[in-house]
This record gives sequence, C-alpha cells and structure tokens, in this order.
Amino acid sequence: MNIELLNKLSVEFYNLFNQKPLLIASPGRINLIGEHTDYNQGFVFPATIDKHIFAALSLSDAGFCRVTALDMNETYDFDLNNIQKKEPGSWKNYVLGVVAGLMDKGVDIQNFNLAFCGDIPLGAGLSSSAALENAVVFGLNELFDAGLNKMEIVEISVKAEHDFADVQCGIMDQFSNLHGMADQALFLNCADMSFKAVPVSLQNYQLMLINTHVKHQLSDSPYNQRKLQCMQGFELLKGNYPELPSLSDARISQLNRLKDEMSEVVYNRCLYVIEENSRVKAAKNALDNQNLILFGALLFESHAGLRDLYEVSCQELDFLVEIAKNEPAVVGSRMMGGGFGGCTINLIHQDGVNDFMMKIRRDYQNTFGLSTSFYKVNISGATKIIEQ
Ligand code: GLA
Repeated sequence: MNIELLNKLSVEFYNLFNQKPLLIASPGRINLIGEHTDYNQGFVFPATIDKHIFAALSLSDAGFCRVTALDMNETYDFDLNNIQKKEPGSWKNYVLGVVAGLMDKGVDIQNFNLAFCGDIPLGAGLSSSAALENAVVFGLNELFDAGLNKMEIVEISVKAEHDFADVQCGIMDQFSNLHGMADQALFLNCADMSFKAVPVSLQNYQLMLINTHVKHQLSDSPYNQRKLQCMQGFELLKGNYPELPSLSDARISQLNRLKDEMSEVVYNRCLYVIEENSRVKAAKNALDNQNLILFGALLFESHAGLRDLYEVSCQELDFLVEIAKNEPAVVGSRMMGGGFGGCTINLIHQDGVNDFMMKIRRDYQNTFGLSTSFYKVNISGATKIIEQ
C-alpha cells in the first residue's frame, strides 16, 4: 500500500478541515478473464490489487458538504437537500450518486467533509470509479453508523454508476472491491453472487499490466449499447427456450438455431458471451490444476473474441496483444475491463519480462508515438478502514 500517499492525504485533510479523518483504502481490480459476462449473469474472475483510492472523511458543522479531489486540485461544495447529477465524466457524479443512494436507502446522512486521492491510473480499466464509489459508501456507512452490509454497499455503488455516471455496468467491480483477498482471485457467479476464492500461484510466471494510455470513457462509449444487444439476443433465445436463465447459460447450438432471426451483430455479441463464459470456467480449472499454458491460451482466445465478436478492443490494445503472441516468454495476453483503451493483462515467464518490456516500449512508441506504463500485479485485499 502506498503509505506515503496515505500520509499525505491525512496531513492535507488536517490542513483543510482541522480534523483527524476516518481513513479508507479502496483497491483497484484486475480481471483474469470473463469480460462483459457480469451483466449477462455469467462468471467473472477478478482480484483486487495493491493500488488504491484513499478517502478521508469527517463530520462537518459548516452547513454543507465539501469534497476535495486532491489529485485534480478541485473542491466542490454541495447541499444534501439538492443533489444534482453533474456533467458526464465528472468525478463528482460518483460521490453525489452514492450519497443520493444512501439517502434513498433511508440512511441519515449529515454534512460531511471528504478528501480523496489515489494511485489507480484513471481510465485504465482498473476500476478507479468503483473504488471511489465504494470508498465513499464504506466511509459514510462507518461515519453515520448506518449498518449497511457489503451487498447493500455494492448495490448503492452500482446504482450510482447507472444513474449518475450513465454506465449500465454489471456488478463485478463493486463486488470484487469489497470481497477481494490477498493472493486470491474471486471465481464469481454473477447469477447468484456465490464465489470461490482461488489462490493465484503462478510458479515462475507473473502477471503484468500494460497501459496503452488510450483512455476509455465508458459513459459515451458503446458499452451500454453492448448490453442492449445482449438483451435483444437473450429475449429471442428466451422466447424459444423459456427455461434459459440467462444468455451466459445458452448453448451455442441453441444460438445457432436462431441465427437467421437476429442481426449478425447481435449473433456475434451472444456468441462471444457464451464462449467467454465457458472460458472463465476452463480458466479456473486450469489455474486449479496449475496448467498455466492452457490458462494463457484462454486469455489469447478471450482477446480474439473481444476484438472480433464483441468489438470492444482498439488498435493499440490489439497491437500489444500481437507483440505478446510473438514473444515466447508470454503465455497469455488480452485486453482487460470494459475496453476501448486501458490495459492489457499478460502472463509472462519471469526470465523474459525485461526483454518483453523493452520491446513493447520501443515498438509501441514507434508505432503510435505514445509511451506505455507497466504495472506488476500484486493481489491484495478488499476495501478497509486504515487504523491510525
Ligand atoms: C466495466 C464494468 C464491469 C464489467 C467490465 C467488463 O469494468 O464496470 O461491470 O462489465 O467493464 O467486463
């Protein structure tokens, strides 16, 4: 954990509000495999990482709420009786959205001060927005002794994302943020929220993220459109197979029988979801059996599906995955998160990490005129209070 940053937050909070705050650390997440399956009631395989949003909170007697986003050097005051959605893309929507959600749930929120900062790269597919939402709900739950359980916190954050940030996201990010465990990934069934913690032990391999520095902006991206296309496909399937609980549960043979009744785009989206859902289960077995070569091959397959069928990749992500494919030390690579930019996740033999990084740095810069960033994945725990 970035203790230096946490200490800086604590000191700056004291300078701003003359109070000792309640401190919360809320992690970013990776997803090993299982992209866009969460809102189709399928399986996902996320894990929380050692990068955080840190939030500092206290009660206020100023007559309004004050929020300071330290990294952006912005302060925003608002009245609890007049909460309005802000411009798309603004960090304020995450805070306002969860405060509105808490009040809707009947939590007696009073005026408070909040400051936050973090080391989760923004727009990189590491779910900084869910980390911020959960940090604020978790902190306010504590500050006002609201007694919300984890699932209630998750629901409030997801609703804020839907209603205030305009992203019709699934549950993976907010759920994993509160349930993550050190050195384990969560094999999560989004149909009923049951999960199994799976040890991520990678022998001589390591996970590394590579940031394209192409920023995704999910709210005005076709993310919501993908969800609608899946719903369309499922409606048709359900009409013919009423027993089907979700798109993720459909068989390819069932989809194929209805191929002529749907557009090619809807067919491709559905095919991707069904295949990806099987891949998550296969990847979990591969990890259980320590078959990292098979696990890696599934990552490559996942990327191909996201690129060709689900169409949420971009040329920069594809470029990084192509280089990875030609590198003997890399056994798996794919785009991670919602898509349209952000990071790839790579499984690399330790001996080849440096050469691979050098090659990526050089070729990516030469091709796109952009730098890359590399993050070695360190799987750590869920959102928590930091005792001072
Ligand atoms: C974003 C959403 C998640 C999930 C992923 C794609 O991170 O917030 O709910 O849909 O994209 O797997």
